[in-house]
Amino acid sequence: MTQPFRIAIAGLGTVGTGVIKILEKHAAEIALRAGRPVEIIAVSARDKSKDRGVDLSGLDWVDDCAELAARDDIDAIVEMIGGSEGKAADLVRRSLAAGKHVVTANKALLAHHGYGLALLAEEKNISLAYEAAVAGGIPIIKTLREGFAANEIRSVYGILNGTCNYILTEMRETGRDFSDVLKEAQEKGYAEADPSFDVDGIDAGHKLALLSALAFGTHPDFENLKITGISHLTATDIHFAGELGYRIKLLGIARRHDAGIMRTLEPCLVPKESQLGSVEGVFNAVFIEGDFVGKSLSVGRGAGEGPTASAVVADLIDIARGLRIPAFGRPAKDMAAPTWLDAGKTQSRYYLRLEVLDEPGVIAQVSAILRDYKISIESMIQHGRDPGQPVSVVLTLHEVSSGAMQDACRAIGALDIMREKPCLMRIESL
Ligand code: NAP
Ligand code: HSE
Repeated sequence: MTQPFRIAIAGLGTVGTGVIKILEKHAAEIALRAGRPVEIIAVSARDKSKDRGVDLSGLDWVDDCAELAARDDIDAIVEMIGGSEGKAADLVRRSLAAGKHVVTANKALLAHHGYGLALLAEEKNISLAYEAAVAGGIPIIKTLREGFAANEIRSVYGILNGTCNYILTEMRETGRDFSDVLKEAQEKGYAEADPSFDVDGIDAGHKLALLSALAFGTHPDFENLKITGISHLTATDIHFAGELGYRIKLLGIARRHDAGIMRTLEPCLVPKESQLGSVEGVFNAVFIEGDFVGKSLSVGRGAGEGPTASAVVADLIDIARGLRIPAFGRPAKDMAAPTWLDAGKTQSRYYLRLEVLDEPGVIAQVSAILRDYKISIESMIQHGRDPGQPVSVVLTLHEVSSGAMQDACRAIGALDIMREKPCLMRIESL
């Protein structure tokens, strides 16, 4: 057999230790598939004394991971630290500059700096691989970049954060508290180091930035993506959505329109019985629509040790085999600086929950504003009667431009009768 493919792993948390377990358990099969053994030479993390449940004896422990980039006994760096700046970013830059392949699961880093890093990898003729960065165990990068390379991509959209989907599912099925379920997602290794990245939609936003770059040949341009998370949603919204025949899903959507590409990351209502509506728990689901292939849906576990490490090892096997594919599926220098279509100009149906005082004239005030913005009511729910007390009123609204709906919502939110900020969500039929 030829020379081993020599790697160093920086970051030995959920994903890093998962990679060690797979490389150990499937060493022989991986060597056959890669054409040579994949051998771990060195590892690095912060705390050498921590028990990580994997055998690190025989591996070189390095306190400062930056040193790994300069070693000539290592072919590829596996960056499993995380974060768009700091140690991880420094290690990836140094490694690429030193001509070492990089495999990472770090969507934050790539969403912010992916274009520059792809240019650097290209200049050095090496691989920058990141299958694990989007949708965990679903091979969505490969699908979009290689499997659908013959197509003009029309749209890519779906459920991109396992933690949020797990929280929304558990809250609905068990009636448990948001914070209680989030804690459990953290214990299961689904959440980011800072879980506000999950629940505020930032992590899913990073992933949508990468998918749109792959789909449309644009810079990832995370900075210009408008993001709304799920932390403001309540059990009441989950309940009303169910009553109306919908599920709430945090969706990332990037779609080519005649006038440009629209991107949005926000919680939406989708029909219960739809394909996305039935994707539950930690599962992610991504639709890709190409001009020749039509629509295709990929579903799988979007977070956690096994699925994520599986994607990392698949990248390692590809590189060890000698496969070299540009990070974003085309020469980095040919990626375009994007012009995004204002999401406010797109049309959608809407769900609007209002916490209002239960008194005469309330609905008249709300409907007057909707009338002024030419927004037509499709249905309305109010349960119970509690004169003078706050009550939930839920409206569904016919198709309207997102901009008009946002303006109307702001005007309704400013009424004296309102007891909370209105909760507005798109209803997507997709
Ligand atoms: P994690 O469990 O928090 O592990 C992070 C590891 O990085 C720890 O071993 C930590 O060391 C090490 N580390 C932190 N700062 C360091 C530094 N300055 N120098 C050296 N090592 C340092 O994180 P994770 O869940 O494995 O995530 C790793 C990456 O995978 C992130 O980019 C994340 O976004 C991505 N990802 C995670 C998942 C998932 O389901 N967890 C899924 C897809 C992608 P100590 O252990 O010594 O503290
Ligand atoms: N925290 C992320 C999630 C990990 O929950 O989806 C996978 O990228």
